[in-house]
Amino acid sequence: MGTYQIYGGKPLCGEISIHGAKNSVLPILAATLVSGGVYRLHNCPNISDVASALDILRSLGCRMEQRGDTITVDTYPAGSAEISAGLMKKMRAAILFLGALLARFGQARLSHPGGCVLGQRPIDLHLMGLRHLGAQCAEVDGELICRVEKLKGGTFALPFPSVGATENLILAALACEGEMILCNAAREPEIGDLIGFLNTCGAEIRGAGTSVLRIRGGRPLHGGEYTVMPDRMETATYLAAAAATGGSVVLQNALPCHLTAVTEVLRRAGCHIGETKTGMCLQAGPLRAVSPIRTAPYDGFPTDAQAPVMAALAKARGVSIFEEAIFSDRFRHVPALCAMGAKIRAVGAQAIVEGVETLHGAHVTATDLRGGAAMVIAALAAEGESRIDATEHMERGYEAFAENLRACGAQIIIQ
Ligand code: EPZ
Repeated sequence: MGTYQIYGGKPLCGEISIHGAKNSVLPILAATLVSGGVYRLHNCPNISDVASALDILRSLGCRMEQRGDTITVDTYPAGSAEISAGLMKKMRAAILFLGALLARFGQARLSHPGGCVLGQRPIDLHLMGLRHLGAQCAEVDGELICRVEKLKGGTFALPFPSVGATENLILAALACEGEMILCNAAREPEIGDLIGFLNTCGAEIRGAGTSVLRIRGGRPLHGGEYTVMPDRMETATYLAAAAATGGSVVLQNALPCHLTAVTEVLRRAGCHIGETKTGMCLQAGPLRAVSPIRTAPYDGFPTDAQAPVMAALAKARGVSIFEEAIFSDRFRHVPALCAMGAKIRAVGAQAIVEGVETLHGAHVTATDLRGGAAMVIAALAAEGESRIDATEHMERGYEAFAENLRACGAQIIIQ
């Protein structure tokens, strides 16, 4: 178990290069399985979730090579449609291989995925859509066994714009007869990146960025080359860290248009945020509370930015009220922030943050990827020494997290 030892109280000042998006490269890696081919992906983040996705592809018979941030995957040799429970439990995105396996082999045998504990994370919407496409899915002794003779097109409306269900159905629909029209699809930029990759490789998917997607089936992918979009949640995290510490950062390769809901909150909190030729920058000001901050599907305030921004507003003047409307238990970072002196009351889907003058160091344990990042932000803004255990949570989604912060003046020792 890894630990960060942090001596807080210094403004973060410097430049950070934003890496490729975790929540884009993971569905794209699953998509390479749909048709045998050689796929070259650039700007891939060096994070443990990518390693887990490559382990799954390798276990299915695929070959791959990693050179810097370029990953080349050869999925011609894939021959298995089964993924072990050990590989499935490492991350939620493992479930995206279900749609890809059904498209490639007409069958799949896997278990429920693992990933951050954010409350109930069922896969009922995934299965509802796959059954609509003609798949039979049964749960036997905790395993999910799915098979289909021929996936059929048609129109299906998601009851909720689930990101993962949208991605799974896009991948399965690539092998359907005719066309699938997916209504109430998620509109997150990562969906657009997946569609951009697939269309580059021969697919015909229309409606990216809208809630109605038209996926033409029966067009096998022919391999290809693609550059993954920048990670908007990594960007939001570093913006929140600079805001929390009264610093100023330049984020190279960041795409401001992908996180306008976050920058709007940080501007209302008193930060100056600008665009540069190659990214964006933030100059912190004295922070004031923002309320309400309600998480929502894109292009609302993203749930993944809730914890990092809460950490930043722990020292803002006034009362900020967060409403978590996406996940049922996504305030698990609150006790750790309170251990550092924050005044936060989490009641149901609401967290009331009463700004305090100072935070102090504490010894805490990361609960999940974004909650752990929030603890790092609070520790950087606190006076004195903090220790944050279970840093493997942060290493799932942030490449060189401690090193980037250290390059901006943070005192962090990795243990
Ligand atoms: C993706 O998770 C992201 N993960 C999450 O990021 C992100 O928080 C989430 O989308 C929302 O934007 C990846 O892309 C790998 P959902 P996903 O399906 O697909 C419920 C991070 O920190 N739901 O949109 O699991 C679900 O319980 C991670 O990078 C069902 O009820 O999110 C949740 O309440 C955390 N049934 C809501 O929908 C289903 O079948 C949103 O889930 C599926 C989802």
